[in-house]
Amino acid sequence: MKVTVDEAVPEFPGVRAAACPFDPPPELRELRRHGPLAKVRLWDGSTPWFVTTHAEQKALLGHPQVSADVTRPGYPIHTAGTGGGSLSFILMDDPEHARLRRMVQGAFTVRRVEGMRPAVRRIVDRLIDELLAGPKPVDLVEAFALPVPSLVICELLGVPYADHGFFQDNSKTVIKRSATPEERAVAFGSLFEYLDGLVGKKIEHPADDLLSKVAARVGSGELTRREAAQMGVLLLIAGHETTANMIALGTLALLRHPGQLAVLRESEDPKLVAGAVEELLRYLNITHSGRRRVATADIEIAGQVIRAGEGIIMPNDIANRDPEVFPDPDELDVSRDARRHVAFGFGVHQCLGQPLARLELQVVYGTLYRRIPTLAPAAPIEEIPFKHDGQVYGVYELPVTW
Ligand code: HEM
Repeated sequence: MKVTVDEAVPEFPGVRAAACPFDPPPELRELRRHGPLAKVRLWDGSTPWFVTTHAEQKALLGHPQVSADVTRPGYPIHTAGTGGGSLSFILMDDPEHARLRRMVQGAFTVRRVEGMRPAVRRIVDRLIDELLAGPKPVDLVEAFALPVPSLVICELLGVPYADHGFFQDNSKTVIKRSATPEERAVAFGSLFEYLDGLVGKKIEHPADDLLSKVAARVGSGELTRREAAQMGVLLLIAGHETTANMIALGTLALLRHPGQLAVLRESEDPKLVAGAVEELLRYLNITHSGRRRVATADIEIAGQVIRAGEGIIMPNDIANRDPEVFPDPDELDVSRDARRHVAFGFGVHQCLGQPLARLELQVVYGTLYRRIPTLAPAAPIEEIPFKHDGQVYGVYELPVTW
């Protein structure tokens, strides 16, 4: 059925506001009645395509005439002030995107990342020791969910962890939809300056870390200093915010599904833990504002024509609840095979850090609930502040006790 754009086109606030805090908004899922493609209205009045099915999302994310370049006219930007295009290769097209991504992808291969498992285990165990020795209730976000990925990405990049307060606060503002364009620009500028300073230091005194490798490419003329600093900002933000949200929201989801938590806690099988990570990625899908793109040529798909210059939103939370791919999609089932999820995106921009995110989540989900078997929320769910205003979903705080 062809979709006509009229007053009935629903708003897509780009944030989660469903009755169940783990589910995509029902009114957007209902758009499937139009077929795989519908239209939504954004904050600026534009009406991009909204792709509700897993198969069509993958087809479009892998399509050569679909651009991730945020500066192209028609790109469905999240909110005022997010169309600047300075967040490095995540918002670029090939060949520039591939040129920059290739420079850092060696650090994120499954083999390289696997070598970090003992270090990640040590970090997780030490933080749990500190939790157990400290007062309770405690905010799990501040005491555990944020420190784990922040310590890991700092170690990998060669960023001093002592600066975590600074970079965590600014990262939060960069991806907060309710931040004003000015606030976002100031936060981004601070992170850029910080990373630029670090790149300068690594040029002078290289160490055995990823930022030093990036800095060496500035020295050899393969990369400008600006590109290097922008890449550093991308890796630092993407490397801690996302995983931190999965740790806290995943823990809350498991505490709300005690049967599933028991299956995970009581299994000795590392494959079950790895499977549970995939299922929680599918079920929670924290990048809830969707993959955003713009067509660079007319594209015929699912009986519709996406015209060149039209925006396209691929809400991966809705694809991950596609009943054609995942039976009983609204059930959290840690034993299911959820590996076809698109929580890490698809196509050339598929998450560079996914082996690292998987490793961290496997260690966390496989350790935390065994070492603290009586872990419980210390506040009713209605009092937990959800990140409805973030481009990345999660909770701002999670008070827990045991
Ligand atoms: C559970 C945690 C994570 C989730 C759910 C996640 C999700 C995603 C998604 C959906 C994309 C695709 C963006 C698009 O298509 O527009 C992406 C890209 C990316 N992610 Fe992650 N991510 C996670 C952790 C990480 C970590 C730990 C890093 C480490 C630095 C990282 C670095 C990146 C980078 C650099 C890109 C851009 C890739 C490109 O454009 O080629 N991510 N991520």
